[in-house]
Amino acid sequence: MSVLTGDNIAKKKDGSELTILDYDTVNLDEEKHALVIIDQTKLPNRIEILSITSQEDIWDAIYLLKVRGAPAIGVTAAIGIYLAAREIKADDFDTFYTAFRKASDYLNSSRPTAVNLSWALKRMEDVVLAHKEAGIPEIVEALHREALHIRQEDIDVCREIGRHGLSLIKPGDGLLTHCNAGQLATVRYGTATAPMYLGHEQGYNFKIYCDETRPLLQGARLTSFELKSAGMDVTVLCDNMSASLMREGKVDAIFVGCDRVAGNGDTANKIGTSMVALAAKRYGVPFYVCAPTSTIDLETKTGADIVIEQRKAEEVTSMWYKEPMVADGIKVYNPAFDVTDHDLITGIVTEYGIAYPPYDQSFREIFLKKA
Ligand code: MRU
Repeated sequence: MSVLTGDNIAKKKDGSELTILDYDTVNLDEEKHALVIIDQTKLPNRIEILSITSQEDIWDAIYLLKVRGAPAIGVTAAIGIYLAAREIKADDFDTFYTAFRKASDYLNSSRPTAVNLSWALKRMEDVVLAHKEAGIPEIVEALHREALHIRQEDIDVCREIGRHGLSLIKPGDGLLTHCNAGQLATVRYGTATAPMYLGHEQGYNFKIYCDETRPLLQGARLTSFELKSAGMDVTVLCDNMSASLMREGKVDAIFVGCDRVAGNGDTANKIGTSMVALAAKRYGVPFYVCAPTSTIDLETKTGADIVIEQRKAEEVTSMWYKEPMVADGIKVYNPAFDVTDHDLITGIVTEYGIAYPPYDQSFREIFLKKA
């Protein structure tokens, strides 16, 4: 793995300053056959670009949240499994397929909640199976094409989510978001932030509020950073302040991302999202979940069936402090995600339009459009 820092990466041709938005969240280095990501654990203080070739380092990058956010994890997995496939030594399909499945299961074990991880790996596996009769080099080349396709698709999908989301808001609106469902969580535009980017391009002058998002501070470290870099008006607040902001009438709409949407519309997203939705219901603020159709998992019937990742206690007790803030030996509850019940969600914004309750029916229509 090699590391480039913000200081030794080439400047823009016109001499202007680079911002975080000029770097690729996830990409493939065709010459070095490497996954290239921004190390998000170092933001906002340092821009470090990692060039990763080994499967163990890719697994670690996902698990340690160097690359994070459901769509970005999906693209990372697609590029990662292509890189793994290049290294497989096999003369026949069965040997290749067995090694491919092993590598795929390994990457899939890095994080459990974001369905985009298994979705992308399944798409890559389908490519392998569709080329069963071809030679191994052709299969690897097909995987290469599919990985780049998944990456490009992510950009197009997010832009469409932005277009639909923008139809729900107006210039000057106050918009609240939680965690980072921004460009740093996708390839470009983000999901929850896509309406903000598109509106900003058109001079909408939103007032954006970013929940800090305890314990890993994605809202404070990432969302506010990227939106400010884009020139938007951004305010950070602690998670326990959003209800008071809504009560003061400062929030016209809420946009959040998601890691998995169940068939009934229950939605898993970063821990704290459901509290925002509950407060939004109380204060009559529309609460929208932005979800590429790749995040809608019809095989998961309700939120109760979604596996919620539990993470280490240190993220809560000591990670951001000079000294631990919880005395030794005290138990810590640290789920990475929570489920927002479907009846708290005003609408789910997809690349094929906005799904409204009842979600089982509107998802059927969305997937029919997709087909
Ligand atoms: O633990 P993280 O930082 O990967 O959690 C990310 C989120 O919860 C995002 O809101 C979600 O993945 C959607 S990203 C478009």
